[in-house]
Amino acid sequence: MSIIQGMPNLGPGLRLHLNENTAGCSPAVLEAIRRVTADDVATYPDYEAAVRETAGLIGADADWVALTNGLDDGLLLTAIAYLMPKAPEGLVTLGALPVAPSGQAEQILVLPTFEPYIINAKALGARTIAIPSDADFAFPLAKVLAAISPNTRLIFINTPHNPSGRPVSEADIRAVIAAAPHAVVFIDEAYHDFQGVHYLSFTREFPNVIVGRTFSKAYGLAGIRVGLLVGPPELLAPIRFVMPLFNLNAVAVAALRAAIADTQFMPWCVAQARESKALLYEALTRLGLPHWKSETNFVLVNAGERLPEFVAGLRAKGVLVRDRSKEHGCAGCFRITMGPVEHTRVAIAALEALCAKP
Ligand SMILES: Cc1ncc(COP(=O)(O)O)c(C=O)c1O
Repeated sequence: MSIIQGMPNLGPGLRLHLNENTAGCSPAVLEAIRRVTADDVATYPDYEAAVRETAGLIGADADWVALTNGLDDGLLLTAIAYLMPKAPEGLVTLGALPVAPSGQAEQILVLPTFEPYIINAKALGARTIAIPSDADFAFPLAKVLAAISPNTRLIFINTPHNPSGRPVSEADIRAVIAAAPHAVVFIDEAYHDFQGVHYLSFTREFPNVIVGRTFSKAYGLAGIRVGLLVGPPELLAPIRFVMPLFNLNAVAVAALRAAIADTQFMPWCVAQARESKALLYEALTRLGLPHWKSETNFVLVNAGERLPEFVAGLRAKGVLVRDRSKEHGCAGCFRITMGPVEHTRVAIAALEALCAKP
């Protein structure tokens, strides 16, 4: 199978491999897309209302918010802004050296990690200091603090964490922010909707924090691509500088506004994911499959040596899951998305059938 663009197509099946929302999106989003006019399509998009409504949703001022073409886009733009050989002025004001002494800007992240963090830095010639998480994916605070240097420009904290589903504690996040006042601490909250805990207030409390969010998960807009960066205007300025003028398309703008206006769909999805997780934990415990309690819309399951058999067997039964076994701490593990209970029941039945086989 050749990759043309994007992820390889695994064929038909229940898509529980990419942490998407298998409930789809709000019907109001589809209606809004149907209402898009020829003028909307033929003219460059206007972001004013979408930015204000997004800011309203999170209780922030509009100039503290930047919409991006998925959070992936926000991550790339952040990397371009902050990992170039010359430090942006805003960062220098916070105490960063204008140019890294070694000529190489550094970022720090914890393994396993969301791969684009690494790829982006590589593309920019920056150095990544990748710190393996402690046992059971615990945040390796002491090692992260020890890795901070005058060259550190960017530190990623992903909470709740992909692929473990585990949260990073508030105390650990505070300790990292305090230890790196000259760097941007990027808190990736792609899955915060499922936990209810978030660190938006840190963007106001500290001058060096950016929070990243996505509408791909709980809001079900992965195909439309809408992400969000929140932070002090001075910190967003270098990102806005490199951001394409019209990075979000007009259909995405219409979809986003409708998704925000529907106050029913998202909480329903979150509740379904919670119920699904409870059902899955019960089944995994019964089947003797180790797993980690997750604050997200997915669960990491340890199938041990039977992993290839599980991934292929589930696929044969029409359930797609993601093999994560190559990543730090994930030997034998697959990740499975938690959406509507009816989908989870299908996945559990498939797991049960596989486990019944000797
Ligand atoms: C931790 C993390 N950050 C960012 C993203 C990117 O999300 P988006 O779909 O908005 O590009 C994902 C998507 O899976 C993710 O897991």
